[in-house]
Amino acid sequence: MTQIFLTGATGYIGGEVLHALQHAHPDYEIAALIRDNEKAGKVLAAFPKVRVVLADLDNVEIIEEESRKADIVIHAASNKHLESVKAIANGLAGRQNAYYIQVTGASVLAGPEIDNNSYGEPSDQIFDDLDNVAGLRDIIRAYKDRRVVDNYILDLGSDGPKTAIIFPPIIFGTGKGPVNQRSVQVPSLARAALLRGVSLYLGRGLSRWGIVHVSDLADLFVKLVGHAVNGTPSPIWNENGLFFAENGFESFKDIAVLIAKEAHSLGHIDSPDAVQSMNLDEANVVIPNGVVFLGTNGQGRALRARKLLGWKPEGESFQKAAQETIIAEAAQL
Ligand SMILES: NC(=O)c1ccc[n+]([C@@H]2O[C@H](COP(=O)([O-])OP(=O)(O)OC[C@H]3O[C@@H](n4cnc5c(N)ncnc54)[C@H](OP(=O)(O)O)[C@@H]3O)[C@@H](O)[C@H]2O)c1
Repeated sequence: MTQIFLTGATGYIGGEVLHALQHAHPDYEIAALIRDNEKAGKVLAAFPKVRVVLADLDNVEIIEEESRKADIVIHAASNKHLESVKAIANGLAGRQNAYYIQVTGASVLAGPEIDNNSYGEPSDQIFDDLDNVAGLRDIIRAYKDRRVVDNYILDLGSDGPKTAIIFPPIIFGTGKGPVNQRSVQVPSLARAALLRGVSLYLGRGLSRWGIVHVSDLADLFVKLVGHAVNGTPSPIWNENGLFFAENGFESFKDIAVLIAKEAHSLGHIDSPDAVQSMNLDEANVVIPNGVVFLGTNGQGRALRARKLLGWKPEGESFQKAAQETIIAEAAQL
């Protein structure tokens, strides 16, 4: 039976992936690395068949051992924790029939703007992960210090496990995982709008990121795992295993306008037109590292998943999800 080792099962992405995998393939045996006993209980209550590995990402011996036992490792807990990435690679070393799927992020495309300290400005550059995969690799290679995990995985080459890196953009929608069901950008912007009575965008708000519903993102994982299990011959691994996940693009000003409109229609702010520019410091208060996550361009088109995995995003609309997010944030406040 297919053995999967998953990290981040209590998180937004990992929890949704766990939910989607258990529903699509209840026969897969999933071991989940969880660091908190109480949260492990919640995971087991929702998914009793999961085998809990009670450990932290710093417990690299455990991660290496669990990876050695697995056919497929999904690392959804962190895109920066290099020691756990190395432990997974060690556990899978030399096994060409083993698979490693890593979550990182669409900020891979934001390097030049971070270098130039230029935020909120538009860009007409839309990257794709199929016809221009070589260009995407060049971008990763150009930022060895910032994209440490991406570079490490690319450096593994093709003699060992088959690898894939997924670069999610703005993920929206309420998750179905057992613990954290909240994303980052849209909920934080919604919360700031509710607190200040005005919806915010950084600078001119003209930079754009891709958007993807969390259930569609999880479906991409499920499809990739399915290809791994079936051993489908396709250029989807190692140097070709680079995947954007996107169902269109939104500018941050348009997101602010949508949040204002929905928050007003729900009775939380006075005017549907209450939108306002914020500066870099304010953006970093809305979200840690907000200048990057609210002010750069992360426009990666998901051609590889669509054409080679048959992936088709079908999750609820951005507008509907934004409305639900505002309701959830208002309830928490
Ligand atoms: N959400 C987005 O919009 C988005 C988009 C692109 C990329 N990403 C990246 O994808 C990764 C996961 O994001 P997320 O939104 O799912 O985050 P999240 O909801 O905060 O979940 C993180 C998960 O990783 C676990 N974790 C973190 N550090 C750990 C450690 N030292 N040991 C063991 N487990 C650890 C957390 O466990 P606990 O429950 O115990 O904390 C949780 O299960 C992050 O690196 C994030 O930057 C997120």
